[in-house]
Amino acid sequence: MKAWLLKDFGLNNLQLGEVPTPTPRAGELLVKVGAVSLNFRDKAIVDGIYEPHLVPKPLIPVSDASGEVVAIGTGVTRFRVGDRVNSTLYSRWIDGAPGPDEPTYCLGMPLPGGLAEYMIIHEESAVRAPGSMTDEEASTLPIAALTAWYSLMDVGNLQPGQTVLVQGTGGVSIFAAKIALAHGAKVIATSSNDANLAKVKSLGVHAGVNYRTNPDWEKQVLELTDGLGADVTIEVAGGDGINKSIAATKVQGVVAQVGFLTGQTSAVNLMPLIFRQTTLRGIAVAPRSSFERMNPFLNKHNIKPVIDHIYPFAEAVKAFEHLARGPFGKVVIKIAD
Ligand SMILES: NC(=O)c1ccc[n+]([C@@H]2O[C@H](COP(=O)([O-])OP(=O)(O)OC[C@H]3O[C@@H](n4cnc5c(N)ncnc54)[C@H](OP(=O)(O)O)[C@@H]3O)[C@@H](O)[C@H]2O)c1
Repeated sequence: MKAWLLKDFGLNNLQLGEVPTPTPRAGELLVKVGAVSLNFRDKAIVDGIYEPHLVPKPLIPVSDASGEVVAIGTGVTRFRVGDRVNSTLYSRWIDGAPGPDEPTYCLGMPLPGGLAEYMIIHEESAVRAPGSMTDEEASTLPIAALTAWYSLMDVGNLQPGQTVLVQGTGGVSIFAAKIALAHGAKVIATSSNDANLAKVKSLGVHAGVNYRTNPDWEKQVLELTDGLGADVTIEVAGGDGINKSIAATKVQGVVAQVGFLTGQTSAVNLMPLIFRQTTLRGIAVAPRSSFERMNPFLNKHNIKPVIDHIYPFAEAVKAFEHLARGPFGKVVIKIAD
């Protein structure tokens, strides 16, 4: 089969090659990949800044896929040939709390990912793809949508009428905005540019703050919330900006620490954290059970992903370059018709 192989770190070392089509073992599905979507994690892996000691070489990258089951190993009961499935990032985290070694069982690194004509997914880590979505649409769910859903609903216990703060207009943030709005929450979004703010407002977002032209953006969020702050903040920026997120979040509110776009370390001012009694919660996507709760909600509210661009399989490198420029929503690679 054709597969993109990361032979060493750096986008120039991502090359199209030919490898044997895998055979499903007991409990496994062979999936003909319809589409994959890119996440910042995939780019960070290619760049060698995401757990580089775990990266096998060559690696078939990209965790998030949607496709059709074309063969099954012995003992498979959850799916049949012909079913459309989604991958999940944490292939062994089914429900409850994760085990201590989940990162060693992630698709797209260290396990082979979906940037290939076929991929193996264990039946326990596959989820039925929503019938209302194409493969291109469904491929955006496993990390971006699920992280947003888990942060808001399972961790943030979001209630209708509460306020959510989302940062930037990337994959996680747009899904968080759409899910929060469908749940009856008020949403405030930040962005580096006014054009993106206009676009998120057209999706229903109540207010936008430009974090480039307003370096003290947390004060604007407070003004927009009667001085109280957001109930749940989806933190994707990382770095020292976390102090602004704590300031922009309500007393006893939740900051879901999802991302690290500006840095993987942070100097947290403890006194505001203590006085505001903020719950600062690290997020590492979610278990399969959360995915299975999310999909009916997406179907019920007819929530579709915002896809910035769909690239053909041969142009995977261009898709990664697009991700590096900062997409509005998701970047998708179509693999099969
Ligand atoms: N922990 C987890 O489970 C998990 C899951 C998913 C993602 N993540 C992480 O979350 C982050 C976002 O992921 P993603 O897939 O949504 O990324 P993405 O689609 O690449 O989105 C990036 C967007 O973030 C915005 N941004 C960049 N710098 C920012 C800053 N300083 N402050 C606020 N917004 C900023 C930009 O929007 P504007 O151009 O509009 O400003 C940019 O388009 C990444 O660090 C990713 O690794 C973690």
